[in-house]
Amino acid sequence: MSTTNAATLPVAVTGLGAYLPERVVTNDDLARVLDTSDEWIRTRTGIRERRVVAADQATSDLAIEAGRRALRQAGVAATDLGAILVATTTPDHTVPGTAPLVAAGLGAEVAAFDVNAACSGFVYGLQIGGSLVATSGEPVLVVGAEALTRIVDPGDRSVAILFGDGAGAVVLEPDVDARLGPFDLGTDGRDPSMLWTRAGGTREPASEAVLADGGHYLTMRGGDVYRNAVARMTASSQRVIEAGGIKVGDVDLFVGHQANLRILEAVRSRLGIAEDHCHITVDRHGNTSAASVPLALADARDAGVLHGGATILLTAFGAGLTWGSCLLTWRGDA
Ligand code: COA
Repeated sequence: MSTTNAATLPVAVTGLGAYLPERVVTNDDLARVLDTSDEWIRTRTGIRERRVVAADQATSDLAIEAGRRALRQAGVAATDLGAILVATTTPDHTVPGTAPLVAAGLGAEVAAFDVNAACSGFVYGLQIGGSLVATSGEPVLVVGAEALTRIVDPGDRSVAILFGDGAGAVVLEPDVDARLGPFDLGTDGRDPSMLWTRAGGTREPASEAVLADGGHYLTMRGGDVYRNAVARMTASSQRVIEAGGIKVGDVDLFVGHQANLRILEAVRSRLGIAEDHCHITVDRHGNTSAASVPLALADARDAGVLHGGATILLTAFGAGLTWGSCLLTWRGDA
């Protein structure tokens, strides 16, 4: 069962930034090195292309650029932040966290920590960051950043086709007229092997045997993940709609975790949200895990489909299992 918090926070998004690495990898590019095809990938996932980090880039590099853009738009200096949260499941290093590196890159010595809730991490980060803003009165930077292509086996066609790299960031600030929430967050950790990187942690440290059997790569049971993603994101979205005292028809924009077009379509139609109220980026970004929701938000803003006062429904699902949803009133100047 989830934790649903009906409270709304007087917190607004005042800056929104995105960063995508330059290199584009199309389905045809993958079909040249894997036994797959553009047609198979498009019909099963809706993905046409994805961005991939350069050889000298890591997750913090993407996060710093997205964070810089969000701060510039908000007109907030990094040194004025109360905290920096980086939602990621692909940290630069096992130790230390990625957020202190991002803080240093932005030129600040503020509180900075990672949130690892896999693909749901950005929604988790919004509730933690929003709560910090509400209690401290200080602005908080929440970043979702991932370099998933660094942890997939490039020779495994069942996962290599799905993922992409990128980062999105928001600046949260106090605003008595704004509403962030309600939130619904939940986990089911009984079967982590459904979607995981088996080795390289404390359960099974890196070793020659791990490298030999590929235990350091991300693996999943696609069908089980698919079914859980649809069920969990639908139920979680319904809980925040109910807790928010609104009707489905009041949702101006639905931004779901961009894992797979068929998953998004299934959630959207089960919720009864109109097709033109759903924003899609998975075709161009692939699955960027914790970065997918802020990247999709920024893409919606750039496409001109976000207007001041809009009610946005965010929902995400990922490894763990984890899931999270929230409502967000758009202030219109981000
Ligand atoms: N190209 C061509 N064929 C492929 C392939 C690829 N990239 N990947 C798998 N196949 C093959 C399989 O080997 C299998 O062949 P077989 O029948 O001869 O054994 C066949 O296609 C069907 O595989 P299956 O896994 O049943 O396909 P599917 O219809 O379930 O689609 C996914 C696979 C991964 C697209 C789908 O399960 C999915 O999207 N799951 C959710 C993944 C996700 O979003 N994860 C992250 C969540 S945060």
